[in-house]
Amino acid sequence: MKIIRTIDEIKKELEKYRRQGKTIGFVPTMGALHNGHLSLVEQCRKENDIAVVSLFVNPAQFEPHEDFNTYPRDLERDEKLLRERGVDILFSPGLNEIYPGGYLTYVEVEKMGKVLCAKSRPHHFRGVATIVLKLFNIVNPGYAYFGRKDAQQAIIIKKMVKDLNLDVIIKTMPIIRDPDGLALSSRNVYLTSEEREAALNLPGALQKIKSEIDKGLRDVSVVKDMFQKEVKKSPLVKVDYLAVVSLDQLEEVDEIDTGNTLVAAAIRLEKTRLIDNFILGGI
Ligand code: PAJ
Repeated sequence: MKIIRTIDEIKKELEKYRRQGKTIGFVPTMGALHNGHLSLVEQCRKENDIAVVSLFVNPAQFEPHEDFNTYPRDLERDEKLLRERGVDILFSPGLNEIYPGGYLTYVEVEKMGKVLCAKSRPHHFRGVATIVLKLFNIVNPGYAYFGRKDAQQAIIIKKMVKDLNLDVIIKTMPIIRDPDGLALSSRNVYLTSEEREAALNLPGALQKIKSEIDKGLRDVSVVKDMFQKEVKKSPLVKVDYLAVVSLDQLEEVDEIDTGNTLVAAAIRLEKTRLIDNFILGGI
Protein backbone atom coordinates (compact mmCIF):
# COMPACT_ATOMS: atom_id res chain seq x y z
CA MET A 1 0.00 0.00 0.00
CA LYS A 2 1.35 3.39 -1.02
CA ILE A 3 0.80 6.22 1.46
CA ILE A 4 0.50 9.52 -0.38
CA ARG A 5 0.25 12.93 1.25
CA THR A 6 0.19 15.38 -1.65
CA ILE A 7 -2.38 16.11 -4.36
CA ASP A 8 0.23 16.28 -7.12
CA GLU A 9 1.61 12.87 -6.28
CA ILE A 10 -1.73 11.04 -6.06
CA LYS A 11 -2.94 12.63 -9.32
CA LYS A 12 0.21 11.46 -11.10
CA GLU A 13 0.04 7.97 -9.61
CA LEU A 14 -3.63 7.51 -10.55
CA GLU A 15 -3.12 8.92 -14.04
CA LYS A 16 -0.62 6.13 -14.62
CA TYR A 17 -3.25 3.48 -13.69
CA ARG A 18 -5.97 5.19 -15.74
CA ARG A 19 -3.73 5.09 -18.83
CA GLN A 20 -3.36 1.35 -18.27
CA GLY A 21 -7.18 1.12 -18.41
CA LYS A 22 -7.53 0.23 -14.71
CA THR A 23 -10.72 1.05 -12.80
CA ILE A 24 -10.42 3.15 -9.66
CA GLY A 25 -12.65 2.77 -6.59
CA PHE A 26 -12.64 5.24 -3.70
CA VAL A 27 -13.66 5.29 -0.03
CA PRO A 28 -13.43 8.66 1.75
CA THR A 29 -13.05 8.44 5.57
CA MET A 30 -11.99 10.46 8.58
CA GLY A 31 -10.05 7.51 10.04
CA ALA A 32 -10.44 5.84 13.45
CA LEU A 33 -11.53 2.94 11.30
CA HIS A 34 -14.01 0.27 12.43
CA ASN A 35 -15.85 -2.54 10.66
CA GLY A 36 -18.36 -0.05 9.20
CA HIS A 37 -15.59 1.71 7.28
CA LEU A 38 -13.93 -1.59 6.47
CA SER A 39 -17.12 -3.00 4.90
CA LEU A 40 -16.91 -0.14 2.37
CA VAL A 41 -13.21 -0.79 1.82
CA GLU A 42 -13.81 -4.50 1.22
CA GLN A 43 -16.57 -3.79 -1.31
CA CYS A 44 -14.33 -1.25 -3.07
CA ARG A 45 -11.46 -3.77 -3.13
CA LYS A 46 -13.75 -6.41 -4.71
CA GLU A 47 -15.21 -4.19 -7.41
CA ASN A 48 -12.20 -2.22 -8.72
CA ASP A 49 -8.66 -2.76 -10.01
CA ILE A 50 -7.26 -0.02 -7.80
CA ALA A 51 -8.68 0.68 -4.30
CA VAL A 52 -8.06 4.17 -2.90
CA VAL A 53 -8.96 5.23 0.65
CA SER A 54 -8.63 8.77 1.95
CA LEU A 55 -8.12 9.66 5.57
CA PHE A 56 -8.67 13.31 6.38
CA VAL A 57 -10.38 14.79 9.43
CA ASN A 58 -12.16 17.63 7.68
CA PRO A 59 -12.41 20.76 9.85
CA ALA A 60 -15.00 22.32 7.52
CA GLN A 61 -17.67 19.82 8.56
CA PHE A 62 -17.32 20.37 12.32
CA GLU A 63 -19.20 23.17 14.08
CA PRO A 64 -16.92 25.50 16.11
CA HIS A 65 -18.02 23.88 19.43
CA GLU A 66 -17.65 20.31 18.12
CA ASP A 67 -14.93 17.68 18.57
CA PHE A 68 -12.55 18.47 15.66
CA ASN A 69 -9.52 18.71 17.97
CA THR A 70 -10.36 15.61 20.00
CA TYR A 71 -11.78 13.46 17.16
CA PRO A 72 -10.11 10.02 17.56
CA ARG A 73 -6.95 9.69 15.43
CA ASP A 74 -4.81 6.54 15.11
CA LEU A 75 -3.00 6.62 11.80
CA GLU A 76 -0.77 3.64 12.51
CA ARG A 77 -3.66 1.33 13.35
CA ASP A 78 -5.66 2.60 10.36
CA GLU A 79 -2.70 1.99 8.02
CA LYS A 80 -2.38 -1.58 9.25
CA LEU A 81 -6.12 -2.30 8.80
CA LEU A 82 -6.09 -0.92 5.26
CA ARG A 83 -2.91 -2.75 4.31
CA GLU A 84 -4.46 -6.03 5.53
CA ARG A 85 -7.44 -5.44 3.25
CA GLY A 86 -5.30 -4.99 0.16
CA VAL A 87 -5.82 -1.26 -0.35
CA ASP A 88 -3.49 0.12 -3.04
CA ILE A 89 -3.33 3.78 -2.04
CA LEU A 90 -3.96 5.57 1.24
CA PHE A 91 -4.33 9.31 0.65
CA SER A 92 -3.67 11.12 3.90
CA PRO A 93 -3.10 14.81 3.18
CA GLY A 94 -2.26 17.49 5.73
CA LEU A 95 -4.59 20.39 6.48
CA ASN A 96 -2.62 22.87 4.36
CA GLU A 97 -2.64 20.56 1.37
CA ILE A 98 -6.46 20.59 1.31
CA TYR A 99 -7.19 24.08 2.66
CA PRO A 100 -4.16 26.29 1.91
CA GLY A 101 -4.16 29.82 3.34
CA GLY A 102 -6.78 32.01 1.68
CA TYR A 103 -9.10 29.11 0.80
CA LEU A 104 -12.55 30.47 -0.16
CA THR A 105 -14.68 28.02 -2.17
CA TYR A 106 -17.50 25.90 -0.69
CA VAL A 107 -20.28 23.80 -2.20
CA GLU A 108 -23.80 23.71 -0.82
CA VAL A 109 -26.63 21.32 -1.61
CA GLU A 110 -29.63 23.51 -0.79
CA LYS A 111 -32.67 22.33 1.19
CA MET A 112 -31.38 18.79 1.74
CA GLY A 113 -28.35 20.25 3.51
CA LYS A 114 -30.54 22.23 5.92
CA VAL A 115 -32.77 19.54 7.44
CA LEU A 116 -32.37 16.61 9.89
CA CYS A 117 -28.77 16.65 11.21
CA ALA A 118 -28.25 20.16 9.85
CA LYS A 119 -30.70 21.56 12.43
CA SER A 120 -28.02 21.11 15.08
CA ARG A 121 -25.03 21.13 12.66
CA PRO A 122 -25.85 23.99 10.28
CA HIS A 123 -22.48 24.06 8.46
CA HIS A 124 -21.90 20.31 8.40
CA PHE A 125 -23.14 19.32 4.94
CA ARG A 126 -21.50 22.32 3.27
CA GLY A 127 -18.23 21.02 4.72
CA VAL A 128 -18.99 17.44 3.63
CA ALA A 129 -20.04 18.37 0.08
CA THR A 130 -16.96 20.58 -0.32
CA ILE A 131 -14.42 17.99 0.83
CA VAL A 132 -16.09 15.16 -1.09
CA LEU A 133 -16.14 17.20 -4.31
CA LYS A 134 -12.48 18.13 -3.79
CA LEU A 135 -11.57 14.48 -3.18
CA PHE A 136 -13.54 13.37 -6.26
CA ASN A 137 -11.63 15.93 -8.32
CA ILE A 138 -8.32 14.72 -6.90
CA VAL A 139 -8.97 10.96 -7.19
CA ASN A 140 -11.40 10.97 -10.12
CA PRO A 141 -12.81 7.53 -9.24
CA GLY A 142 -15.26 5.44 -11.27
CA TYR A 143 -17.03 4.29 -8.10
CA ALA A 144 -17.19 5.78 -4.60
CA TYR A 145 -18.56 4.02 -1.53
CA PHE A 146 -20.64 5.53 1.29
CA GLY A 147 -22.36 4.00 4.33
CA ARG A 148 -26.12 4.21 4.86
CA LYS A 149 -25.34 4.90 8.54
CA ASP A 150 -25.01 8.51 7.34
CA ALA A 151 -28.04 8.29 5.06
CA GLN A 152 -28.51 12.06 4.74
CA GLN A 153 -24.84 12.42 3.73
CA ALA A 154 -25.13 9.67 1.08
CA ILE A 155 -28.32 11.20 -0.34
CA ILE A 156 -26.76 14.69 -0.45
CA ILE A 157 -23.61 13.38 -2.17
CA LYS A 158 -25.73 11.58 -4.77
CA LYS A 159 -27.65 14.80 -5.38
CA MET A 160 -24.41 16.78 -5.77
CA VAL A 161 -23.06 14.21 -8.24
CA LYS A 162 -26.25 14.46 -10.29
CA ASP A 163 -26.56 18.25 -10.14
CA LEU A 164 -22.89 18.88 -10.99
CA ASN A 165 -22.73 16.19 -13.71
CA LEU A 166 -19.90 14.26 -12.06
CA ASP A 167 -19.00 10.93 -13.65
CA VAL A 168 -18.51 8.98 -10.40
CA ILE A 169 -21.08 6.32 -9.47
CA ILE A 170 -22.06 6.35 -5.79
CA LYS A 171 -22.60 3.00 -4.11
CA THR A 172 -24.18 2.82 -0.65
CA MET A 173 -23.64 0.01 1.84
CA PRO A 174 -25.70 -1.23 4.83
CA ILE A 175 -25.20 -0.09 8.43
CA ILE A 176 -22.75 -2.30 10.34
CA ARG A 177 -23.70 -2.79 14.01
CA ASP A 178 -22.18 -4.24 17.15
CA PRO A 179 -23.85 -7.50 18.23
CA ASP A 180 -25.99 -5.52 20.75
CA GLY A 181 -27.45 -3.45 17.89
CA LEU A 182 -25.55 -0.17 18.31
CA ALA A 183 -24.42 1.17 14.92
CA LEU A 184 -20.62 1.35 14.75
CA SER A 185 -19.30 4.90 14.98
CA SER A 186 -15.87 6.39 15.64
CA ARG A 187 -17.61 8.42 18.35
CA ASN A 188 -18.80 5.36 20.32
CA VAL A 189 -15.44 5.44 22.16
CA TYR A 190 -16.66 8.59 23.96
CA LEU A 191 -19.48 6.65 25.71
CA THR A 192 -19.26 5.55 29.35
CA SER A 193 -20.65 2.06 30.04
CA GLU A 194 -23.93 3.55 31.42
CA GLU A 195 -24.26 5.78 28.36
CA ARG A 196 -23.61 2.88 26.03
CA GLU A 197 -26.37 0.91 27.73
CA ALA A 198 -28.74 3.90 27.34
CA ALA A 199 -27.63 4.38 23.71
CA LEU A 200 -29.12 0.99 22.85
CA ASN A 201 -32.56 2.61 23.15
CA LEU A 202 -31.85 4.28 19.81
CA PRO A 203 -31.58 1.12 17.67
CA GLY A 204 -34.21 -0.45 19.96
CA ALA A 205 -36.74 2.31 19.23
CA LEU A 206 -36.05 2.23 15.49
CA GLN A 207 -36.38 -1.53 15.38
CA LYS A 208 -39.73 -1.37 17.19
CA ILE A 209 -40.98 1.28 14.74
CA LYS A 210 -39.77 -0.78 11.78
CA SER A 211 -41.63 -3.86 13.01
CA GLU A 212 -44.84 -1.81 13.55
CA ILE A 213 -44.50 -0.46 9.99
CA ASP A 214 -44.05 -4.04 8.76
CA LYS A 215 -47.38 -4.80 10.51
CA GLY A 216 -49.12 -1.89 8.76
CA LEU A 217 -48.41 1.33 10.74
CA ARG A 218 -48.39 4.36 8.39
CA ASP A 219 -49.25 7.35 10.62
CA VAL A 220 -46.09 9.42 11.28
CA SER A 221 -47.49 11.07 14.44
CA VAL A 222 -47.82 7.59 16.00
CA VAL A 223 -44.24 6.83 14.92
CA LYS A 224 -43.00 10.01 16.62
CA ASP A 225 -44.82 9.23 19.91
CA MET A 226 -43.49 5.69 19.84
CA PHE A 227 -39.93 6.94 19.34
CA GLN A 228 -40.08 9.35 22.30
CA LYS A 229 -41.56 6.69 24.57
CA GLU A 230 -39.00 4.04 23.65
CA VAL A 231 -35.87 6.14 23.57
CA LYS A 232 -36.61 8.01 26.80
CA LYS A 233 -36.75 4.77 28.78
CA SER A 234 -33.37 6.00 30.00
CA PRO A 235 -33.14 9.49 31.57
CA LEU A 236 -29.62 9.84 30.10
CA VAL A 237 -31.03 10.15 26.57
CA LYS A 238 -31.85 13.55 25.08
CA VAL A 239 -33.60 13.47 21.73
CA ASP A 240 -32.05 15.66 19.04
CA TYR A 241 -34.59 14.68 16.37
CA LEU A 242 -36.68 11.91 14.89
CA ALA A 243 -37.66 12.64 11.32
CA VAL A 244 -39.70 10.75 8.78
CA VAL A 245 -38.88 12.09 5.33
CA SER A 246 -39.05 11.11 1.67
CA LEU A 247 -35.84 9.47 0.44
CA ASP A 248 -35.68 11.43 -2.79
CA GLN A 249 -36.32 14.95 -1.38
CA LEU A 250 -35.71 14.62 2.39
CA GLU A 251 -39.07 16.33 2.94
CA GLU A 252 -41.20 15.56 6.00
CA VAL A 253 -44.20 13.32 5.35
CA ASP A 254 -47.35 12.56 7.41
CA GLU A 255 -47.87 9.11 5.99
CA ILE A 256 -45.26 6.42 5.42
CA ASP A 257 -44.65 5.34 1.83
CA THR A 258 -42.91 1.95 2.16
CA GLY A 259 -40.98 2.53 -1.10
CA ASN A 260 -39.60 6.02 -0.43
CA THR A 261 -39.04 6.80 3.26
CA LEU A 262 -36.10 7.52 5.54
CA VAL A 263 -36.72 7.25 9.28
CA ALA A 264 -33.71 8.99 10.85
CA ALA A 265 -32.89 9.96 14.42
CA ALA A 266 -30.19 11.57 16.53
CA ILE A 267 -29.82 11.47 20.30
CA ARG A 268 -27.43 12.99 22.78
CA LEU A 269 -25.81 11.35 25.78
CA GLU A 270 -24.02 14.06 27.72
CA LYS A 271 -21.28 15.11 25.22
CA THR A 272 -21.84 12.41 22.59
CA ARG A 273 -24.27 12.71 19.69
CA LEU A 274 -25.31 9.48 17.97
CA ILE A 275 -27.32 8.90 14.80
CA ASP A 276 -29.16 5.92 13.37
CA ASN A 277 -31.82 5.27 10.75
CA PHE A 278 -33.64 2.81 8.56
CA ILE A 279 -34.62 3.15 4.95
CA LEU A 280 -37.77 1.94 3.19
CA GLY A 281 -36.87 1.87 -0.49
CA GLY A 282 -33.52 2.19 -2.21
CA ILE A 283 -30.75 4.80 -2.27
P1 PAJ B 1 -16.52 8.84 8.48
O1 PAJ B 1 -17.43 9.18 9.61
O2 PAJ B 1 -15.12 8.42 8.78
O3 PAJ B 1 -17.22 7.71 7.63
C1 PAJ B 1 -16.66 7.25 6.42
C2 PAJ B 1 -17.67 6.36 5.74
O4 PAJ B 1 -17.96 5.22 6.57
C3 PAJ B 1 -19.02 7.06 5.49
O5 PAJ B 1 -19.50 6.76 4.19
C4 PAJ B 1 -19.91 6.48 6.58
O6 PAJ B 1 -21.29 6.47 6.23
C5 PAJ B 1 -19.36 5.06 6.67
N1 PAJ B 1 -19.73 4.45 7.96
C6 PAJ B 1 -19.48 4.93 9.20
N2 PAJ B 1 -20.03 4.11 10.13
C7 PAJ B 1 -20.63 3.09 9.46
C8 PAJ B 1 -21.37 1.94 9.86
N3 PAJ B 1 -21.59 1.66 11.13
N4 PAJ B 1 -21.84 1.13 8.89
C9 PAJ B 1 -21.62 1.40 7.58
N5 PAJ B 1 -20.93 2.48 7.14
C10 PAJ B 1 -20.45 3.31 8.07
O7 PAJ B 1 -18.55 10.22 6.76
C11 PAJ B 1 -17.44 10.72 6.87
O8 PAJ B 1 -16.38 10.09 7.49
C12 PAJ B 1 -17.09 12.09 6.29
O9 PAJ B 1 -18.23 12.89 6.31
C13 PAJ B 1 -16.49 12.02 4.87
C14 PAJ B 1 -17.49 11.44 3.86
C15 PAJ B 1 -15.19 11.20 4.86
C16 PAJ B 1 -16.15 13.47 4.41
O10 PAJ B 1 -15.25 14.06 5.28
